[in-house]
Amino acid sequence: MNDLASLSAEDLQALETSLAQEYSYVAGNKLSLNLSRGKPGAEQLALSEGLEETINGNYRTADGTDTRNYGEIRGIADARELGSELMGAPADAIIAGGNSSLFLMHLTVSTALQHGLWGDARRWSAHPEPKVLAPVPGYDRHFALTEALGIGMVNVDMGANGPDVEQARALVKDDAGIKGIWCVPKYSNPTGCVYDDATVAALAELPREAAADDFVVLWDNAYAVHDLVTPPPQLASLHEAARAAGTSNHIVQFASTSKITFAGGGVAFVSSGEDVLNALQQRLSFMMIGPDKVNQLRHSRFLKGRLREHMAQHAEILRPKFDLVENVLSAELGNLGIADWTRPQGGYFVSLDLRPGLAAQVVDMAADVGLTLTPAGATYPYGKDPVDRNVRIAPTFAELDELETAMQVLTLCVKLASVRQILSGQV
Ligand SMILES: Cc1ncc(COP(=O)(O)O)c(C=O)c1O
Repeated sequence: MNDLASLSAEDLQALETSLAQEYSYVAGNKLSLNLSRGKPGAEQLALSEGLEETINGNYRTADGTDTRNYGEIRGIADARELGSELMGAPADAIIAGGNSSLFLMHLTVSTALQHGLWGDARRWSAHPEPKVLAPVPGYDRHFALTEALGIGMVNVDMGANGPDVEQARALVKDDAGIKGIWCVPKYSNPTGCVYDDATVAALAELPREAAADDFVVLWDNAYAVHDLVTPPPQLASLHEAARAAGTSNHIVQFASTSKITFAGGGVAFVSSGEDVLNALQQRLSFMMIGPDKVNQLRHSRFLKGRLREHMAQHAEILRPKFDLVENVLSAELGNLGIADWTRPQGGYFVSLDLRPGLAAQVVDMAADVGLTLTPAGATYPYGKDPVDRNVRIAPTFAELDELETAMQVLTLCVKLASVRQILSGQV
């Protein structure tokens, strides 16, 4: 089939009738499908059952620390070594924390806001309207966290190689209220893009160009080793770029094993310059006497020397799911001129862009026939996609047969909504 916009009104009407028939047939099937869950599937979780055998009565780390006891607020050395492998920063520039990197992001942003990150008088709250830059589409939980702390957000366009740094530069250089930028540098959620070297270098420089002297690059490398292709694309080290730019205390990196071992039962990491690590350590010490070091030891033993091999096993499970999504999208929507989508080389998501004004409608139409999608707008601050066109597809959790049906239903809804929109003469 050709570009839908080039069809005659009669052809479009005939197409609408047959798609609507198909849609009511699907409705009759009383489906219960879900493409909103960006979490590992059961087969992936099973890859990490060996975690349980790693302790086997031996709770001491290589340097003799008894992980059963209190202490080591920055985490055990063995876990910080694992963090080093994920973050491209030395182990002594890393805190290994509890199970959630999102928690460490909240800790960092709330500390920047209320107490300062550098042991001096700088606090984001000193500005009447602190804001951060939000590359869009982006990760909904970054936006929710920011909003929950009463910090504003300013959209920046996301491109194929990362956020538009020219736009970011122009925004930060005159507005001292802009205090930071959210980044998911590898297999970005949801577009799957990997920041190129020039973007990494430019972001490491950004704190020096910002009008705010307390600007922070929030670098959430959640998908650092979640490659689907070999050789995988390489992300330049922000740690090195920041050292070269003299901004080490103005970049904060995050990572976790949530999508490596057990989501919610892993180990999270934060890395920055020493001033920032000290500030975070101090805040943490009011909340806990030490992290779960037994779990840190489990993880370091389980993954030591075999992280790549372990991730290759994840890729074997995930590749067919991403291939299926791509195949259905190109078979059903290719050449119709009604949708664009990403073909990520790793990570957890595919980002689908529709004709402007259709995302919310398609998500609702899918829900009406039993397919749950991530709410439209979720990939934008305040849940507001200004063009109402982005839909996030999360293919990892569903089994292949469920995924196939879900993608058929999704593409049917996209076609039907698009045909109706073209017929109605909108856009
Ligand atoms: C970009 C990104 N960061 C962080 C997280 C959550 O990480 P954690 O489980 O370590 O809190 C997710 C989960 O989907 C994510 O997609």
